[in-house]
Amino acid sequence: MNPRHAHHRHNKPGDKPRSKPPAQPQNSPLKTLDRVLSKAGVASRTEARQWIAAGRLAVNGKVVKDPEFWVNIDRDRVRLDGKPVRPGKKIYLLLYKPKGYLTTFKDPDGRPTVYDLMKEMQQWVFPVGRLDQDTSGLLVVTNDAGLAEHITNPEHKVPKTYLVKCSTLLSEEQIDQLRHGIELKDGMTRPARVVRIRDRSNRTVFEITITEGRNRQVRRMVEALGAKVLKLVRVAIGPIRIGTLQIGQFRPMLAEEVNLLRSAGH
Ligand code: URA
Repeated sequence: MNPRHAHHRHNKPGDKPRSKPPAQPQNSPLKTLDRVLSKAGVASRTEARQWIAAGRLAVNGKVVKDPEFWVNIDRDRVRLDGKPVRPGKKIYLLLYKPKGYLTTFKDPDGRPTVYDLMKEMQQWVFPVGRLDQDTSGLLVVTNDAGLAEHITNPEHKVPKTYLVKCSTLLSEEQIDQLRHGIELKDGMTRPARVVRIRDRSNRTVFEITITEGRNRQVRRMVEALGAKVLKLVRVAIGPIRIGTLQIGQFRPMLAEEVNLLRSAGH
């Protein structure tokens, strides 16, 4: 109900008129632009403010750079990067990122990004966590900032599994080092699950499951052993494996998969 009507109805004849309109009720459709984004679950308020300042938001077709801009969520059309933002409707996708694509929104050098693979998506979504340009493999793509936080926050220890082709033949000792922890410049790595898949001439292919997501972590762990990563593919996030997904393609997640991810890690 319009708060002005409520005001009139509850006033008895003879009451002094109130000088101020009543405060906006909780469920008012009026919200500031930064709050619309955080309520829709697409960004924290800090991120939202940065995106607004960067000119990525439009209300009713006009770019708005003021985070305090008032939006009526029942009437106004809010778009992020040209795609509608609607509170409530959550989207969950799995994407097989090819090598050479960036997980950032825009590249100043014009290199392709994962957004180029999802042009037909009508609603705004973002990839969860980063994969290096040279890494291929599984990405969750969503507009659910809560799930994104659950997957990326290292405290939740949601495991990520990578298939690694190493430039040398690894000894059992080296595999054990990967398992127990390697001293990197940002500290010891947590214990990891490592499975040797095959040794071909002078190269080892193995799978490693880590519960942190430090910058270039797998590459740096292998480099600490004096070897190089020739190929890196993320094959699983928590219990979700890449399966039959084709490179460069995406598909909606099943409700069951979303639930599995929500309860992955701790
Ligand atoms: N480890 C890396 O080194 N790179 C990635 O992209 C992911 C994990």
